[in-house]
Amino acid sequence: MAHAAASDDLTKRVADTYSRIDDPRLRHLIVALIRHLHTYVKEVGLKREEWEAAWSLMAEMAKSTGPKRNEFLLLGDLIGVSQLVENLGHQRPKGVVGYALVGPFYRANAPLRRRGESIASSDTAGERVRITGRVYDLTNNAPIAGAMLDIWQAAMNGLYENQDDAQPDYNLRGRFRADESGTFEIVALKPTSYGFPVTGPVGDLLKVAKQRPYRPAHIHFIVSAPGYDTLNTQVFVERDETLREDPVFTASENMVGKFRQENGEWRLRYDFQLEPGVSTMPKSPLA
Ligand code: BEZ
Ligand code: FE
Repeated sequence: MAHAAASDDLTKRVADTYSRIDDPRLRHLIVALIRHLHTYVKEVGLKREEWEAAWSLMAEMAKSTGPKRNEFLLLGDLIGVSQLVENLGHQRPKGVVGYALVGPFYRANAPLRRRGESIASSDTAGERVRITGRVYDLTNNAPIAGAMLDIWQAAMNGLYENQDDAQPDYNLRGRFRADESGTFEIVALKPTSYGFPVTGPVGDLLKVAKQRPYRPAHIHFIVSAPGYDTLNTQVFVERDETLREDPVFTASENMVGKFRQENGEWRLRYDFQLEPGVSTMPKSPLA
């Protein structure tokens, strides 16, 4: 047991060292991280070659990370941390649109588009859907005039425009402003399920876990307005059999849209509810 005592003493010395951090939140984050990591190393009895594999993996992940791709965020998404952070940060009542992870393909500063404009260039393959709805305050149902809707989606080949040289810059991305009554109208592609890139080390992890790198069909939305907590969400397709198999653990009943065919075109009616709070935009992982 002398071994265990020495290990516990070491953990305490490390935790004490980092307890000198002045900022209380940063101190809490770092010291708790150290404690949990040490507990993990002790629990699994981590061997030196396993530790070597771990830091080599991180070095490989860094090589796969750049302006067009972030392997660290992809890992966080695939092991459920990103969605857990959203769930912890937002307790949404039943029947209200839920918060989703932003994912690795958000690109800030998408073009501002006119009401009713399509985010797809005219030569983009795929069926169009006209999306209409209202942005309103969850506490009093009042419309949120001028709310901003930032939307993006993959093309039919499963690629976001930044991954695909064949697509115009910012294709399938756009920002739309709601009108005085909080209403909006957007034309997008009826979404399709797609595979995301697994050529990096995180792909190897998915393979050994027999996890398929396919996401259920969805469209991303970030809905924001001054004085309101920014809503990051995704709209999935009703009755999609693959909703339970989302490898990033996001798809759920509170993010499902009813896509309907009306007068020869696809329509989706979908409202977004915001709660008073601080308006901040998510960090874009892409340049
Ligand atoms: C996506 O929404 O496109 C996505 C999110 C997390 C991992 C991979 C893809
Ligand atoms: Fe996506």
